[in-house]
Amino acid sequence: MKRSLGTCYYPEHWARQIWEEDARRMTEAGLTWVRIGEFAWSRLEPRPGHYEFDWLDEAIEILGNAGLRIVLGTPTATPPRWMLDRYPDMLAVDAEGRPRKFGSRRHYCFSHEGYKADCARIVTMLARRYGSNPHVAAWQTDNEYGCHDTTISYSDAARDAFRNWLRGKYRGGGTDDDINALNAAWGNVFWSMNYGGFDQIDLPNLTVTEPNPSHILDFRRFSSDQVVAFNRMQTQIIRRHSDALIAHNYMGRITDFDHFEVGDDLDIASWDSYPLGFLEDRIKASDAHKRRYARQGDPDFQAFHHDLYRSVGRGRWWVKEQQPGPVNWAPYNPAPLPGMVSLWTWEAFAHGAEAVCYFRWRQAPMAQEQMHSGLLRPDNGEAAGLAEVREVAQQIEDAPTVPSSRAQVALIFDYEADWAWSIQPHGRGLCYFDLVFDTYRAMRQLGLSIDIPRPDADLTGYRLIAAPGLMHMPERLRQTMTQSDALWLLGPRTGARNADMRIPVPLPPDLPGWDLKVVHVESLRTDMALPLQSDGEMVSYREIVEGAFETVEALDDGSPAVIRSNNRIYVCGWLDSVALRRVIRDAAIRMELDIIDLPEGVRLRNTGHESFWFNHTTEAKMVSGLTLPPISVLRTTR
Ligand code: GAL
Repeated sequence: MKRSLGTCYYPEHWARQIWEEDARRMTEAGLTWVRIGEFAWSRLEPRPGHYEFDWLDEAIEILGNAGLRIVLGTPTATPPRWMLDRYPDMLAVDAEGRPRKFGSRRHYCFSHEGYKADCARIVTMLARRYGSNPHVAAWQTDNEYGCHDTTISYSDAARDAFRNWLRGKYRGGGTDDDINALNAAWGNVFWSMNYGGFDQIDLPNLTVTEPNPSHILDFRRFSSDQVVAFNRMQTQIIRRHSDALIAHNYMGRITDFDHFEVGDDLDIASWDSYPLGFLEDRIKASDAHKRRYARQGDPDFQAFHHDLYRSVGRGRWWVKEQQPGPVNWAPYNPAPLPGMVSLWTWEAFAHGAEAVCYFRWRQAPMAQEQMHSGLLRPDNGEAAGLAEVREVAQQIEDAPTVPSSRAQVALIFDYEADWAWSIQPHGRGLCYFDLVFDTYRAMRQLGLSIDIPRPDADLTGYRLIAAPGLMHMPERLRQTMTQSDALWLLGPRTGARNADMRIPVPLPPDLPGWDLKVVHVESLRTDMALPLQSDGEMVSYREIVEGAFETVEALDDGSPAVIRSNNRIYVCGWLDSVALRRVIRDAAIRMELDIIDLPEGVRLRNTGHESFWFNHTTEAKMVSGLTLPPISVLRTTR
């Protein structure tokens, strides 16, 4: 597979007279792909049932004839205003019961049957019309599911659909008698929360105090399933008329729906990478770290998502939107340092991206995103990022192929675990994503290359498998562990709840062949960290364990902090970065993996036949006999 570049373009925003010129400049810059159409519903159907496809026909023709390959988006993230007259109750409703109104985008509830029928209609029209168009080489369903907090809706439509979902889940034989199965699973005897029928069940918002966690977890699963079903409805229609690839564009740190399940219905994964926005907006880190990387982005956050979405796409993935300059939406929006657009692009390629597309072609002079840069300025002059894109396009010629190799290290990621942690964190700031990301960062600081599989993936061949915080351990994974000779890095909270969000008995983690029990847990204030006997601390969360094990690391008072039995290590709490890195280093050494202490801001990615060294800092760095200039990528062949 050849590495390629692209951009996101909105012909409907620009005069027809400049489309040819735009297409010519895109190909001149070395771009292959152009994504269009994903917000264009009001231009395709300005009035109900009145279609205007001519402009899109022409845009596709012009772009395609210029040599570009088109990714056509379905426009379902932006229902036109008239849709609300048809379905006044189609809007999503927030947890406070307020409708999320028209006037921006994503103003729909995944459970609204009427809206879904209209989505099926417009997707069918597009798929029929363009399904065999030779220029349309790929499709994108909707745009960024979950963006602006839109997965979860507390609407009447969601409530009715949730009741049906529960009926399906708890239906042993078919009647409302099955409500007792639900009552038992949720433990509704507590606080007299028993239901007499499914129609009595409401959504878990606006309760006096916190709702039952089992109720919330089922609602989160339901909400995720609604996204999966909505996406599947679109892919099924498109596949009836087209053989082109289908993708969706996921986001950074959005965990409200199970991306693996959405991905199962798609051919490839793609995601939208905004390193500088994410650093300010989505990363828990010190101010010093944010200042240091304000113009580069976090050295691990993008890579984490590259590795995650490579799994979601079963090996095939793209960056669908790459930040090319300052964005508009983070608390602060600095410009990247010279060289960063190129570094981000090569980082994606090093992690296996087939294509990187820049958002957007030309900065829009109007509306919400007028302060978001593009590759061109609103006056058509070149913005700073374009020169770097041209350069990468040249470099690709010498490094054309996308590597595909399995890493030796697997770090399991589970969306349900993230929901379970957020439902009952037990302490402020305790968050599954952060725990997994801390682990990922520590691994990367040691130069390890990592895969991020789902919990039920085939884990054969990995030497080190980490499953921190995997709240519910599926039976298949338990079995895999029994037969595996990899080294397993578990805890805290691995296997801490059953599938109904209850504490299992025997007590967790209940690992086959290991007499080990977490007998109680505590969460800690930020000023209560527990020092370890070696350097470092246990912070924010601790588990007290009993059983048969060797103590690998102990707290100051001698109690176990990291324990081991055969090929399993269990971490009894949340370790700071110093301790976590030591634990991972020891595990990697035990498994004879190549590790290397990378200097601050330097990262390494090994593919099957290439090594990529990234220097995210403004100083030159020496590593392994190599000198990495400031903000640079060095590619060596292995
Ligand atoms: C993405 C979105 C784009 C655009 C971009 C701005 O989240 O898909 O449509 O809004 O952000 O950075």
